[in-house]
Amino acid sequence: MVFKVSLVSTSPIDGQKPGTSGLRKKVKVFKQPNYLHNFVQSTFNALTPEKVKGATLVVSGDGRYYSNDAVQIIIKMAAANGVRRVWVGKNTLLSTPAVSAVIRERSGPDGSKATGGFILTASHNPGGPTEDFGIKYNMENGGPAPESITDKIYENTKTIKEYPIAEDLPIVDISAVGVTSFEGPEGKFDVEVFDSADDYVKLMKSIFDFESIRKLLSSPKFSFCYDAMHGVAGAYAHRIFVEELGAQESSLLNCVPKEDFGGGHPDPNLTYAKELVARMGLGKSDTGVEPPEFGAAADGDADRNMILGKRFFVTPSDSVAIIAANAIGAIPYFSSGLKGVARSMPTSAALDVVAKSLNLKFFEVPTGWKFFGNLMDAGMCSVCGEESFGTGSDHIREKDGIWAVLAWLSILAHKNKENLEGDNKLVTVEDIVRKHWATYGRHYYTRYDYENVDAGKAKELMEHLVKLQSSIPEVNKMVKGIRSDVANVSSADEFEYKDPVDGSISKHQGIRYLFEDGSRLVFRLSGTGSEGATIRLYIEQYEKDASKTGRESHEALSPLVDIALKLSKMEEFTGRSAPTVIT
Ligand code: G6P
Ligand code: ZN
Repeated sequence: MVFKVSLVSTSPIDGQKPGTSGLRKKVKVFKQPNYLHNFVQSTFNALTPEKVKGATLVVSGDGRYYSNDAVQIIIKMAAANGVRRVWVGKNTLLSTPAVSAVIRERSGPDGSKATGGFILTASHNPGGPTEDFGIKYNMENGGPAPESITDKIYENTKTIKEYPIAEDLPIVDISAVGVTSFEGPEGKFDVEVFDSADDYVKLMKSIFDFESIRKLLSSPKFSFCYDAMHGVAGAYAHRIFVEELGAQESSLLNCVPKEDFGGGHPDPNLTYAKELVARMGLGKSDTGVEPPEFGAAADGDADRNMILGKRFFVTPSDSVAIIAANAIGAIPYFSSGLKGVARSMPTSAALDVVAKSLNLKFFEVPTGWKFFGNLMDAGMCSVCGEESFGTGSDHIREKDGIWAVLAWLSILAHKNKENLEGDNKLVTVEDIVRKHWATYGRHYYTRYDYENVDAGKAKELMEHLVKLQSSIPEVNKMVKGIRSDVANVSSADEFEYKDPVDGSISKHQGIRYLFEDGSRLVFRLSGTGSEGATIRLYIEQYEKDASKTGRESHEALSPLVDIALKLSKMEEFTGRSAPTVIT
């Protein structure tokens, strides 16, 4: 069929500045006339027409409400902008890591490679008609667009006057694998729908030893549970864990992707992953059933992960440190060593200790996965992670929830090689973590989130904390007045990062109070919320003495919590006597 292209007049719409991870707004905002169109065209214009013409674009996401409409709009606009082909995961489903993998790895039947892709997701934010939708653009390396591009996109949204669209292009059936071809003014245009899991599974099999994980998962001594929280991870879980690795069907929880995530909040943490938490024996009441040895959950777009052992929570900061410490030997992809490791600034320093002890290059970057991408492209970093339940490696340019689970299963399989048969007890998740603490020391860690706080008040609180930093002796007087049993503050600043690859500088990346004993208090405003402001408070204390690494985390951290709340005047500024979420 031959389609026509028409030019539609539009005018700028306020507030289209991409955040930490793309543009995220309520569905009703996205449904406004021209809202999505303006953003998509502003992206095409930022990429430049020369690069868009003839391009191969991936368009897919976590399948949340409004994805079907959005995909069809983007297909019509891509056609009108001279894109050569659009690749769509079946039913619009591709996890964020899978999009990254598809961009980097997939070749079309004629050898074509993707030039980039739109990911339709608001990650861990709830979905549905009254909830969030989101869109972000990833580049040729499979990673999120850098600030130079997102700034251009934003500038374009402020001046946009028109966009081309192939209005008469019929709705493309994205529920079945296959190619639909069209003919436009600039030549051929194809939409190819493909299996959501194939490319990703192939990549995972090239990284991990599936055979050894299979032995672990099929051992009667081991038990497993995976909660996709009705997000897109469900499109991979059955294939990978059940079909490839032999886990029981019953080990999958909430693994049918739903456009409203079953009404839940698809964020894998102890608060929102309630069913998994209960099954793992970490709920308030005992279920009476023996919990599995290993549990994990993913967020809506499957880039985040939470790792649990039986009645045991692994902090994301510990998780990345433990993966880094055990990668060589347990994961074939790393058999020739690690190029370096990195963490985001608010993530605990557990990884720093491993890096030092293994003599690895180490980087501390601002919050946001894109900062790792530059290091990986330059061959400086193999494994990285964030406190916000993100872990990954340089196999792609996004964090990768299922990769993290496979990494943990690989470590467990490696440590239990001799224990699967016979009477030996299995080495458990908890054993691995406790041994790690005994070797490297423990970073007690917690994060307090104050969600949907008045934006003005949040800003005032941050300004107050910056002002305090001008006199450390004054801060220490206050600290000692609150608790005499904590170390002195040795320095305080706003985190600033100079990218070692491109020299770019990122300022105001969080307020830090660093203590003489290695403890830290960090305050940051979230860059991913869609309403009001979210204040994040990160609290960390280092304990080197192996005999003291087994305390309850909240008990060990309570003096520092006290100081953080009083120093920041949290209740005074926010009116909140308690955080919305503690992780
Ligand atoms: C997204 C990014 C992460 C980042 C997180 C921070 O998930 O992909 O790299 O750590 O947002 O969110 P925040 O709300 O703290 O800005
Ligand atoms: Zn996510």
